[in-house]
Amino acid sequence: MKSEAEVLSTRTPELFRSAVEKAAELLRAGAVVALPTETVYGLAANALDPKAVARVFEIKGRPALNPVIVHVASLEMARRCVAGWPEVAVKLATAFWPGPLTLVLTRSGEIPDIVTAGGGTVGVRWPRHPFIQAVIRACGFPLAAPSANPSGHLSPTTAEQVRKVLGAKIPLIIDGGQSQVGIESTVLDLCAQPPRVLRPGMIHLGSLRALLGDRGVQDGGGEAPAASREQPRSPGLLWKHYSPKARLVIRSWKDEAELNSQISALESPRERVHIIAHTLIPTGQGFGRVSVLPRDAEAFARSIYAELHRCDDVGAAVIVVEALPTGAEWQGIADRLRRAAGSHEA
Ligand code: TXA
Ligand code: MG
Repeated sequence: MKSEAEVLSTRTPELFRSAVEKAAELLRAGAVVALPTETVYGLAANALDPKAVARVFEIKGRPALNPVIVHVASLEMARRCVAGWPEVAVKLATAFWPGPLTLVLTRSGEIPDIVTAGGGTVGVRWPRHPFIQAVIRACGFPLAAPSANPSGHLSPTTAEQVRKVLGAKIPLIIDGGQSQVGIESTVLDLCAQPPRVLRPGMIHLGSLRALLGDRGVQDGGGEAPAASREQPRSPGLLWKHYSPKARLVIRSWKDEAELNSQISALESPRERVHIIAHTLIPTGQGFGRVSVLPRDAEAFARSIYAELHRCDDVGAAVIVVEALPTGAEWQGIADRLRRAAGSHEA
C-alpha cells in the first residue's frame, strides 16, 4: 500500500502534546491510528463513525461478528454509550476505572451497529494510560479500539511490535512505552445475573468478589473456544486467538532431565525450542534460549507477550512455557496461554 506509518514518541511533555494533536486530528478525519493503553496497544477509530470503525475491521482482518470495545475518558462519556447505568456499574467504575476492566452493558442509540457486531450490548472501558485519555478528551468522542494486531495474532505491548505487523496499513503509531499491565482487559458482562466474566484479566475474580461479594459475580471466562460456540457471549472467544507463530506448549518438570525428555518428545530441532520458565530454571544446555520471568503474576503478565514476540523474532519453532501457579491472579494469563497453546494443539 502507501508509505510506512509515522511513529511518534511521547517521551517529553512537548512530544506528548504534539502527538496528542496529531492523533486527534487524524481520528477526527476518520482515520485509524495505533495508540498505547495500559493493557496492550489498540487500533483506534472514532466509535461513532461506522466508516472509520469498518476500516479497523478491514485492517485487522477481523470477523464482522466480533464486537469491539469502546474507550471513554469520563463516566459521563461511558453513560452516553449505554442505555442504563446500574448500581453495579457505579461500584465497579468507582473501584477499577480508569483501568483494565471492560463492562458489557445494553448499548445506547449513539453506538453504531458495526461496533457491537449488530448485538444489543456494548463493551465500555476507561483506560488508565494517560495518552489515550488525552486523545479521547481532545477528540470529545469515544474510541473503538481492538488490540493492534492482525486478527488471531498476539497482542502488541510495544509500538515496535505494532509497526512490524501494521506499519504499512496505518498512518500513525504512538509510542507510549511498554504496556504496564501486559494482557488484555477483563471483560465483565453486566447484562448477566449475576455479572459474568467473559474474558479473565488482571482484575481477577478475587478482586471482583471482594467488591461484589462471592455470589455477586460468576466465572464464565476461560472456557474452551469450542464450548462457547452455541452461545457466543463474547464472540472473541470463538476464534483462534492470542497466538505466537511458534507452536506453544505448557509443561511442568521437576528437574532438567525430565524437561529434556519432554523436549525430545516435541520432535523439533532442539536449538529451535525455547523455554520460558519462572520456577525451575534450566541451564539452557541442549536447546535454544531460556528466558526467566518473575514469579509474580503482575510482573509476569507485563512481560509474557514481549517474550513470546521475541521468541517469534528469533525463529523459535516451539515455545515451552512452564505451567503457571494456580490462584485468581494467574487466571487471565493462564487463559491467554491456554488459547495460544490450544490453537496449535487442537
Ligand atoms: O485491553 C483491552 O481490552 C484491549 C485494549 C486495546 O483496550 N482491547 C482488546 O480488544 O483486547 P479486542 O477487540 O482485541 O478484544 C475485545 C474482546 C473480544 O473478545 C470481544 O469479543 C469482547 O471483548 N467484546 C467486545 N464487545 C463485547 C460485547 N458487547 N459483548 C461481549 N463481548 C464483547
Ligand atoms: Mg485482540
